[in-house]
Amino acid sequence: MDSYEVAVIPGDGIGVEVVDAGLSVVERAAADAGFEVETTRFDWGTEHYLDRGEMMPDDGLDRLRGFDNIFLGAVGHPEVPDHVTLHGLLLPIRKGFDQYVCKRPNVLFEGIDSPLRGYGPGDIDFVVYRENTEGEYASVGGREHRGFDHETAVQSALFTRRGTERIVRAAFRAAAEREGHLTSITKSNAQAHSMVFWDDIVAEVSTEFPSVDVERLLVDAAAMDLIRRPHEFDVVVASNLFGDILTDIGAQITGSMGLAPSGNVHPGDANPSMFEPVHGSAPDIVGDGVANPLATVLSWSMLLDDLGETAAGDALWSAVVDQLAEESAPRTPDIGGTAGTEDVVADLRSRL
Ligand code: NAD
Ligand code: IPM
Ligand code: MN
Repeated sequence: MDSYEVAVIPGDGIGVEVVDAGLSVVERAAADAGFEVETTRFDWGTEHYLDRGEMMPDDGLDRLRGFDNIFLGAVGHPEVPDHVTLHGLLLPIRKGFDQYVCKRPNVLFEGIDSPLRGYGPGDIDFVVYRENTEGEYASVGGREHRGFDHETAVQSALFTRRGTERIVRAAFRAAAEREGHLTSITKSNAQAHSMVFWDDIVAEVSTEFPSVDVERLLVDAAAMDLIRRPHEFDVVVASNLFGDILTDIGAQITGSMGLAPSGNVHPGDANPSMFEPVHGSAPDIVGDGVANPLATVLSWSMLLDDLGETAAGDALWSAVVDQLAEESAPRTPDIGGTAGTEDVVADLRSRL
């Protein structure tokens, strides 16, 4: 029997709740498809930090390196500043394994009411390819003269040719396989260095993909158009920060943060990829037992696809779609129900 080794990092807050819930579903899907997912749990996160002064051990990346893939819940805790926790755990994994594609599908499923009037099942279906290793998250900068009135903080964005070309090319490839429509997001009216560079690279790479039509949007207009005409988007390619912001909009117009999955991947690379729900640790609902586990289950579906186990990946995805389509099935409060996390995964297991 095929067996895969997956490192599981539940992290903080509802990350732990949704990861635990999701595992029971994945184990069932794997058993059905005749393979095994062996998980190794790493209790890294803010509790670990409060205990030992580090979010993960110094050799954390080395410990993860040999796994087939990684699953992460969420990171972030009200008692420790976010820049400490995120730069101690989530961001170093994305960057350390050079997971330059952050792939974030946004689909309006049957049974989900979009807050946008007139949108029904399937009317919204696009995927964001977010650059995931550089851009505005490059950690270039510093803060000087603390406390003086001439105190300064500099936070520069770094765009390399290699980094930009590869995310743009990955997005073109995806568009060629989907509807053939790519939207490139910039702010090249104001940011005349990095974003004009990005535009130039999009124009260059576009010559390799004659079947793909390219639309360029400024990020402010894109935020508007994701609300005004989301049905026209197919593949969206954006820098690290712009992709982050637009995917929260994408999650909300397709129902909830609790439904939005993601994968951080380096296509063709031997290092593990990392899959995670788009949402955070949600301190406002932690402990209430109502966190929506579906973003986690859909992220597992993407993880299994990445391992080549597409039948099991499809089975998980379909179980979620079927559950949402059935009016009497349990659903969590973020999507209009009254059920708890456990009810939702128990129902999912019964569908596999
Ligand atoms: P969040 O995604 O945690 O929560 C935003 C809102 O969405 C909250 O009202 C929350 O209750 C709701 N929500 C999120 N996930 C849900 C789910 N599965 N089911 C039901 N409702 C859900 O974002 P935030 O409040 O801005 O951030 C909280 C903490 O998480 C911060 O520390 C932040 O830095 C961190 N964060 C981490 C990640 C990550 O680990 N990938 C992502 C985003 C935010
Ligand atoms: C996300 C999150 C992270 C990001 C934060 C928590 C650093 O918002 O995964 O969308 O900006 O990438
Ligand atoms: Mn985000």
